[in-house]
Amino acid sequence: MTKHRATPIEISKEEFKKIGYQLIDLVANFMDTIDERPVTTGETPGQIQAMLGNASLPESGTPASEIFSRTSELLLNHSLLNGHPKFLGYITSSPAPIGALADLLAAAVNPNVGANILSPMATAIEKQTIKWLAELIGVSPSYGGILVSGGNMANFTAFLAARTAKSPKNLKEDGLAKTAGELVLYCSKTTHTWIEKAVVLFGHGSKSIRWIPTDADNRMNNEILSETIQSDLKNGKKPFMVVGTAGDVSTGVVDSLAGIAAICKKFDLWFHIDGAYGIPAAAIAERKEMFEGMHDADSIALDPHKWLYCPLEVGCTLVKNPQHLIDTYSSHPVYYNFGTTDDEPSLNYYEYGFQNSRGFRALKVWMVLQQIGRSGYIKMIEEDIALSEMLFEEAEKHPELEAITQNLSIATLRYVPSNYPQDPKDKETYLNTLNEMLLNELQKGGKVFLSNALVGEKYCLRGCIVNFRTSETDIREIIEIIVREGRSMHKKLQEQ
Ligand SMILES: Cc1ncc(COP(=O)(O)O)c(C=O)c1O
Repeated sequence: MTKHRATPIEISKEEFKKIGYQLIDLVANFMDTIDERPVTTGETPGQIQAMLGNASLPESGTPASEIFSRTSELLLNHSLLNGHPKFLGYITSSPAPIGALADLLAAAVNPNVGANILSPMATAIEKQTIKWLAELIGVSPSYGGILVSGGNMANFTAFLAARTAKSPKNLKEDGLAKTAGELVLYCSKTTHTWIEKAVVLFGHGSKSIRWIPTDADNRMNNEILSETIQSDLKNGKKPFMVVGTAGDVSTGVVDSLAGIAAICKKFDLWFHIDGAYGIPAAAIAERKEMFEGMHDADSIALDPHKWLYCPLEVGCTLVKNPQHLIDTYSSHPVYYNFGTTDDEPSLNYYEYGFQNSRGFRALKVWMVLQQIGRSGYIKMIEEDIALSEMLFEEAEKHPELEAITQNLSIATLRYVPSNYPQDPKDKETYLNTLNEMLLNELQKGGKVFLSNALVGEKYCLRGCIVNFRTSETDIREIIEIIVREGRSMHKKLQEQ
């Protein structure tokens, strides 16, 4: 009888070390030279597919070392690098290097953080991580919650908790069809698209959203919010939730949260804040005022994989009274033996959210939080904001750029050539076409990666800095690149 089974999956200790050290060398070199690489190689899906090949599932195995050398070449040389100092697109941060090591450790131990008995230390680490996240943004550490895959899931998780808490008690048994009166909810038109997915997926339909207009500052108009709720109540609807945004995805605006909190209190509605992007800025003492009212939120979504610089994927739902999560998500199948041990009730995360089997995404957040500490986060977030302000100011100063908005760490701007159609209508159409084509060119070019925003009717280039590698030199160079490419695109358009 042999002690070890011969399987094609096991890797000997010596081989594991050999491949592992080689991989670490490659990754360390990749991180060290990331600023010398293009942000993206701009290869088309067809070119990428050709490189990957179209082979069928291999019948027999390949040695791990061979797989690693091919895979590293494919990934390190043909990816878009959001860890590059000139990556300012969408809202994905440069990932903290310690997070990569944390993911290796987490996968090696592989705890199933669905139940305490399956992951005693990992469950305790997730609990502490959630408490630290609450402390970082400055809400009571008694908020509980759960880590999820990202912003969409963090908001969905809260959405359903809100519905359980504020809808008729028979909802679980009877479903939505039997609710007396249609459930409706409120948010501004700047709300991220998760809300549209949520109402469709969870059976409310898109008509259940009351899109509240924004005021001149692009914040939800709280007067109209209040009037709309009253009118809905008069018409027999069942308002259940208001969503405020702390850092909207396009321009970084934070809604007047205190006003929303007061309205939710008055009408007994669930107050949810989507702070997936912006709420980490509440850690900064001088910015706290902007987030006033946050402490009254019933739930908050925040994303460590955005402005807390953790590698994908990790979002977080914080809930003032975590019992609402248990009321929404808990069930007790007979095949689960996850009950109370001795005198302490078990913390079983499967009862807090969508997943039963859950990975250990908490580890990377827990480690990054310790490596950086509160003061480190405050410094980096403040610097990101300062760099975004610099991007805006440099655009303001440049005769061929128009600075449009700046909030938190998002600046929007557009290229405006010195000669272009002067008729007011033609002018805007031309500038929109020019800037859209410019953005596409910049995104393919590999020198800088920006995304876009529509501000009013203006198509803008948008830079969001959640990137600890971006420096003042990068901002100056980005301005030069935009102007250089803008001129060339304008020339091309004029010649057409
Ligand atoms: C305000 C806001 N909410 C939600 C999301 C969705 O987050 P995710 O892409 O992690 O699902 C985003 C993404 O940018 C966001 O900015």
